Amino acid sequence: MSSPQSVHTQLGQHRLVPVVVLDNAADAAPLADALVGGGLPVAEVTFRTAAAVESIRTMAARGDVLVGAGTVVTPEQVDQAVDAGASYVVSPGLSRAVVERCVERGVLALPGAVTASEVMAALELGVTTVKFFPAGTSGGAPALKALAAPFGDVSFVPTGGIGPGNLHEYLSIAAVHAVGGSWMVPRDLVAEGKFDDVQTLVAKAVALLSKEA
Ligand code: 3PG
Repeated sequence: MSSPQSVHTQLGQHRLVPVVVLDNAADAAPLADALVGGGLPVAEVTFRTAAAVESIRTMAARGDVLVGAGTVVTPEQVDQAVDAGASYVVSPGLSRAVVERCVERGVLALPGAVTASEVMAALELGVTTVKFFPAGTSGGAPALKALAAPFGDVSFVPTGGIGPGNLHEYLSIAAVHAVGGSWMVPRDLVAEGKFDDVQTLVAKAVALLSKEA
């Protein structure tokens, strides 16, 4: 398995983290094809559905998708995710127990933090990249920029309320490592089996990145 540092670097290279909610683990394989075909072989598979573990297993087994687990709120879920092949663990907030289990299991932890106190708590646990979540309702890009200012060594993965229209606001902030969002993989398109449409959305998101560069 890739080291946490390598996974961190790869996330930064891809710059986008599609947040995926799968209702049916059978959708994981065609979704992985759509992500790879769209030029973004990355997925944060959320533990919001019972299909998460099996979906992570399917996508990770391919070997060409950077698969993480999202919405992880307990150490037990960390174990389930890592056993299934997840190489990073994203949480909506900061849990010491979750971060410590990630360290034990040798995977990158990306806990949520939207205040200076939360960032400081993350730093105390050795975490230097946090998920700024929910980004939109936490003040958006201006708030993230202000929060990042005192923390020179901290980088952020803003997620929540981000889409093609405001992506550039976040990517233009130096402290932003990558941006997460579900807009590239709408749950209804997946449920309807419209993977060509998903691939198109993914490719469009990737195309926006080159405009940023
Ligand atoms: C998440 O789980 O990270 C968020 O639900 C994603 O937020 P979005 O749906 O607004 O992109």
